[in-house]
Amino acid sequence: MPHATFHFPRNFLWGSATSSHQVEGNNTNNTWWAWEQQPGRILNGDKSGLACDWWGGRWREDFDRAAESNQNTHRMSIEWSRIQPEPDRWDEDALDNYREMARGLHARNMTPLITLHHYSDPLWLAEAGGWEESDVVNRFETYARKVVDALREYATLWITINEPNLYVLFGYLMGTWPPGKTQVRSLIKVTENMLRAHAAAYHAIHDIQPAAKVGVAHHYRSARPAKPWFPLDRLATALQSGTLNDTFPRALKNGRLILPLISKRIPEVANTQDFLGINYYTRELVAFDPLKPNMLFTHQYFRPDVELSENKWIANEPDGLFEALGWARKFNLPIIITENGIEDSQDILRSQYMLQHIHQVWRAVNFNWPVLGYVWWSLIDNFEWERGWTQRYGLWELDCGTQARRKRPSVDLYAEICRENGISSDMVQQYAPKIFDLMFP
Ligand code: BGC
Repeated sequence: MPHATFHFPRNFLWGSATSSHQVEGNNTNNTWWAWEQQPGRILNGDKSGLACDWWGGRWREDFDRAAESNQNTHRMSIEWSRIQPEPDRWDEDALDNYREMARGLHARNMTPLITLHHYSDPLWLAEAGGWEESDVVNRFETYARKVVDALREYATLWITINEPNLYVLFGYLMGTWPPGKTQVRSLIKVTENMLRAHAAAYHAIHDIQPAAKVGVAHHYRSARPAKPWFPLDRLATALQSGTLNDTFPRALKNGRLILPLISKRIPEVANTQDFLGINYYTRELVAFDPLKPNMLFTHQYFRPDVELSENKWIANEPDGLFEALGWARKFNLPIIITENGIEDSQDILRSQYMLQHIHQVWRAVNFNWPVLGYVWWSLIDNFEWERGWTQRYGLWELDCGTQARRKRPSVDLYAEICRENGISSDMVQQYAPKIFDLMFP
């Protein structure tokens, strides 16, 4: 049996991610909390509630877990509605709390990677028109200044906005996330404001901290034509991919917002990323569908014989991550995989998925593509948005009733990967023997 190790570059970042609303608990002053109170919005009527009780202080024990499993970075987010509970009031205690968390990462030798916006908005912002109103650009910039100024001693890696493409898709086209709209005009306005807000924050962060590295966490979804020989499927796939994957990073590179039938120059947003964050989970097949104009005439499904996650939400398509990294190269920036993971309460597929995806990252670094780090979603089970508590992405399992944590077997694998800074044949043999021949042919 072959023995080998796939090594990663020195100082490679290995970590896991969380977001404020999903783990803190009692975020009563934001749009998601309000959304959860409306009947029918969240699967089973689930609520975020106490979540993982990080605001109650349990981040400490979870950061210990991350550090003990050899992770050297953690991606966390700041809750805007806590820092600025009202338009003209800043909460210094909340800032102190985040400062303590960032200091807590340092104390555990983990590099903080901090997101300023991860889907949730302060209620007052939503009441004032949210991201549809142009003044959100200044408001976001002011908020970014406040946070970065407070945490500058502890963090230099910043993500302004998490997955703006999904935020606008689900919030303004599908209507399944707050604010529940289904209006293309709103989607376009919000897209433009998010680009402008990111760029304003980018410059503000650099004013305060010239050495900062600032990016966006882009959701990349791989797409293949359902029938490769059918031109309309190919066209639909290109349209979906171009719109979903390219719109934001392209505009942040060349200052041009391009959506179907729209092309607008916004020169001030050009060249405002220092690194490109990629969130990658899966790939889907795309078919032309004349009955779905608001979905760009497409419908999506997974390859029939592919391995699926517990709730059939994610198909295990590791080479889609390699494809994403190849795609990212055109932006000519360092890359961080800011999310990758699978919902799997029984930890049946997680280790295999992890090994296969990290293997694809290794292929990329082997070509000297500039990948700086890999961040697993998630450190611990947390509130999964409109899917409530039905999907479990955590390395650690959470019992919402008792707040008890239980280590899933994949933790040991990830701890070994982080320690070795690589994947060895022994790890594959031990944690996912089924794919041994695939990975070491
Ligand atoms: C989001 C996370 C979410 C994860 C799994 C990502 O797209 O950034 O907040 O929990 O997907 O659904």
